Amino acid sequence: MAAAAALLCLALLVVLPSAASAAASPADRCKSERGSRRKQEPLWVFGDSYADTGNLGDLGRELTHSWYSPYGETFPRRPAGRFSDGRVLTDFVASALGMPTPVAYKGRRRASRDRLARGMNFAVGGAGVLDTGNFQRNISAQIDLFQAMQKQRRRGCARVAGNNNNTGTALVVVSGNDYAYAADKDNGTSAAIAYIPTVVRELGYQLRRLRDEVGMRRVVVTNLHPMGCTPVFTRPLNYTGCDPLANAGAAQHNAALAFVLAALDPANATFLLLDVHTPFAAILLDDDGDNKNSRGFTSTLQPCCESFTPDGYCGEQDENGTRQYALCDDPRRYFYWDAVHPTQAAWAAVAATFKATVKSFMST
Ligand SMILES: *[C@@H]1O[C@H](CO)[C@@H](O)[C@H](O)[C@H]1NC(C)=O
Ligand SMILES: *[C@@H]1O[C@H](CO)[C@@H](O)[C@H](O)[C@H]1NC(C)=O
Ligand SMILES: *[C@@H]1O[C@H](CO)[C@@H](O)[C@H](O)[C@H]1NC(C)=O
Ligand SMILES: *[C@@H]1O[C@H](CO)[C@@H](O)[C@H](O)[C@H]1NC(C)=O
Ligand SMILES: *[C@@H]1O[C@H](CO)[C@@H](O)[C@H](O)[C@H]1NC(C)=O
Ligand SMILES: *[C@@H]1O[C@H](CO)[C@@H](O)[C@H](O)[C@H]1NC(C)=O
Repeated sequence: MAAAAALLCLALLVVLPSAASAAASPADRCKSERGSRRKQEPLWVFGDSYADTGNLGDLGRELTHSWYSPYGETFPRRPAGRFSDGRVLTDFVASALGMPTPVAYKGRRRASRDRLARGMNFAVGGAGVLDTGNFQRNISAQIDLFQAMQKQRRRGCARVAGNNNNTGTALVVVSGNDYAYAADKDNGTSAAIAYIPTVVRELGYQLRRLRDEVGMRRVVVTNLHPMGCTPVFTRPLNYTGCDPLANAGAAQHNAALAFVLAALDPANATFLLLDVHTPFAAILLDDDGDNKNSRGFTSTLQPCCESFTPDGYCGEQDENGTRQYALCDDPRRYFYWDAVHPTQAAWAAVAATFKATVKSFMST
C-alpha cells in the first residue's frame, strides 16, 4: 500500500515534468523530500534558547534580548534571534552532521525548497517541557507543529515516509526553563528540585512519541549543564564559585533522564544522550575557584555581557539609549555570553567533545 502510493508520486513526476516549476505542488514537495533523503536525513530541532536560531518573535528589547545589540555581534554580526554573541548548539550539531543549520520555523517562508527539505528548527527561547509561564511553545506543542506541517507537506503524496522510522533525526534540547520557572514561582531551588520527576517524566513521554508516533530514526537529546555555574547563580557569589544546590539538581535531572532513556531504548538504537554536562563542568569547575585560564577561557563564571544591576539584562538601555551593561572586549575568552547563555566560543569548545560521538551514532 505504502509502496504503491510512493510509486504513484514518482509516476506523476515523470508524466508531469512541468509540475516541478509550479511552486509548492504536492508532488514536487514529495520529490524534494525523497531526493534529500537519499543524500542526508533531515534534522528537526525541538527545545529552548540553547537551540533557538530565531523563532522567538521580536517582542521588544526588554522581553526578547536576542533581537537587540549586542546579541549576534560575532555571528551573523547583527542581532538575529540567537541567544549568544554568535552560533548556538544547533549550529554545531548540524555542522557535526555535515549539514547546514536547519531553517528556523519562523523563517520558513523565506527559505528555499532545498533548505526546507533538510529539516527545520522549532526550538524557541523560554520553552520548557511543561508550562514556563511565558506563552512559548512547550516541547509537545513544538512536536504538534512539526506533525501538522508534515501532514500538510505530504498531502497528495501520502505515506511516502508515513508509518516507518524514516522521518529523520531529532535534536531535543531542554536546558532548564522548567526549573527556573519553578524556582521563581515557588521561591527557591528546592522547589525546582522537587519538580524534577515531573519534568523528566513528561520529557520521557515526548521522547517516546518522537520515536513511536513521529517515526524519527534517531533522537539526540541533551542533558542539563551544571545550572549552578550559570552567571545568574554565580553573580551573587561575586563569581567565585558555583551554586552547589542547583548543580545537585542538574545532576539529579541527568540521572533521571539517563534512567528514562535506558528504559525506553536499552540497546541505544534510537536515542543518543548528548552529554553537555561533562564538557561544561570540565571547563567551569576545573579552576578550583581561582580564575586561572581554563581551556583558553580567561573568564568562566563571569559573563562577557553583564548588566549593571542583578535585575538588569544584557542589552539593557535607559530611557536615553545609554547602555546599562558592560561588554567584554573579546567574547572568545569568555565561556558565558550573558547571565544564562554560553558564547559561541563556549559552544564550539563543548561541541568539539561530542562531534565524533554524534557522527558515529548517525552512521550506524
Ligand atoms: C504544552 O502546551 C500545550 C499548548 O499550550 C498545552 O495544551 C499542554 O498542556 C502543554 N503541555 C504540558 C505538558 O504542559
Ligand atoms: C523567598 O525567600 C527569601 C529568602 O530565601 C525571602 O527573603 C523572601 O521573602 C521569600 N519570598 C516569598 C515570596 O516567599
Ligand atoms: C519505530 O521503531 C520503534 C522500535 O523499533 C517502534 O517501537 C516504533 O513503533 C516505530 N515507529 C514507527 C512510527 O513506526
Ligand atoms: C561580594 O562583593 C561585595 C562587594 O565587594 C561584598 O559586599 C559581598 O559580601 C561579596 N559577597 C560574597 C558572597 O562574597
Ligand atoms: C547505552 O548508553 C549508555 C550511556 O549513554 C551506556 O551506559 C549503556 O551501556 C549503553 N547500552 C548499550 C547496550 O550499549
Ligand atoms: C535622559 O535625558 C534627559 C534629558 O537630557 C535627562 O533629564 C534625564 O535625566 C536622562 N535620564 C537618564 C536616566 O539619564
